[in-house]
Amino acid sequence: MSRATLLASTVAGVTLLGFASLMGAELPSSSALTGKVTSQAEGAMEGVIIGAKKAGSTITTWVVSNAQGQYTFPRDRMEPGKHTLSIRAVGYELPKTSVDVTDQSAHLDLQLDKVTSQSKLVMQMSNGELLASVPGTPEQKRMLAGCLNCHTLQRVLFSHFDADEMTRVVQRMSMHTNNSSPIHPWMRPVNYPAPIPASPIGKYLSSINLSASDTFQFPLKTLPRPKGKATQVIYTTYDLPRPDASPHDEVFDAQGNVWYSDFNSQFMGKLDPKTGKVVEYAIPQARFGQIAQGGLQVDIDREGRIYYGNMSQLQIIRFDPKTEKISEWKVPTPWSAPYDAEAGRNGEAWTGSMLTDRVARLDIKTGQYTEYQLPHPTHIRRVHIDDSKSLGTLWIGNNHGASIVKVEPLD
Ligand code: HEC
Repeated sequence: MSRATLLASTVAGVTLLGFASLMGAELPSSSALTGKVTSQAEGAMEGVIIGAKKAGSTITTWVVSNAQGQYTFPRDRMEPGKHTLSIRAVGYELPKTSVDVTDQSAHLDLQLDKVTSQSKLVMQMSNGELLASVPGTPEQKRMLAGCLNCHTLQRVLFSHFDADEMTRVVQRMSMHTNNSSPIHPWMRPVNYPAPIPASPIGKYLSSINLSASDTFQFPLKTLPRPKGKATQVIYTTYDLPRPDASPHDEVFDAQGNVWYSDFNSQFMGKLDPKTGKVVEYAIPQARFGQIAQGGLQVDIDREGRIYYGNMSQLQIIRFDPKTEKISEWKVPTPWSAPYDAEAGRNGEAWTGSMLTDRVARLDIKTGQYTEYQLPHPTHIRRVHIDDSKSLGTLWIGNNHGASIVKVEPLD
């Protein structure tokens, strides 16, 4: 049973008036739901992030409690209806709580319980907090930080592998492509190496996981909760329909939609932030088998068409929202790894290769590419077209080589 108390709306009105005058801020009628967050351990709690999700909705609105423990959901951010509440405050949990929001201002105090289970606390902690907590030399921790590109540290800590087994796991990790995730474990195109004897890394990792003990043998260091100005913020989270969706980048169109690429599968999506409606589009695959899927940087042209680099599939993708037509243009040179694609005013698109020191200029009408080799080794991520003065000048950063490169075709 919820320990939260729903007071009558008249009482809530009085409480709110006191709060509003205290803060010198909003009028009571502008709040849909307010209350105070407390715990037995701390009394009033500042910096607790409180989320409200209406039944049947995919949108959660989050506010943060202030120095007095007070939180407020503004009326224009909360529709009437039944809302489920959740919180983020490391070391605490909220008993199952929901609230019926009406046209009247509602008041709901939230009493949080301290988390007593060590594994629950570890599950709540960020990678940064866990890195600060685990024992190890700076070198060992730096190596551990390198494990967090594709999954969180919990996957390492809650494992039961001994030093030999962990050595083999680490060996397998180096076989996954950068954009892998446990749901999309893309492998690099190399043979699986023979097992090797327990490495120092394997020994270290098996000393901080649960291979020798049921509990973690080190103190858990958590960061302080937000304070002051950092509590004056509203977050909105929009659930995406595929649980394995991995948005890498977003752009906005003139209608206010958000377009996103997916880092490790052949999808792109459109979110309408007003309604939370998401439409996803399957992107044709150019290469099959254990070839990584997914796209990176997204751009939009003046006509509202969406472009992105479909890296391991070696193609530029364009999506035209007006016709819902998807176009793909395979980059001619193998191992190109196009990271980003951008279109200029003159009907051309550009992409840069992470691996071949070449940039590719696409004539969209004919589908013909011209590939320019750059003067020196150049590791390219984003590309930027400057067509403010001369048409189609490309700018790129040399990610490994301390230079900025401007490319001006002469035709
Ligand atoms: C490039 C992406 C990537 C990196 C970096 C990475 N992992 Fe993984 N990890 C994965 C994927 C994908 C899986 C799931 C598939 C698998 O087990 O191979 C996984 C699974 C795991 C598992 C569970 C294995 C099991 O059999 O249950 C452990 C433990 C693990 N990783 C540890 C590590 C450690 C330690 C590091 C750093 C040395 C690391 N990972 C770095 C991608 C990665």
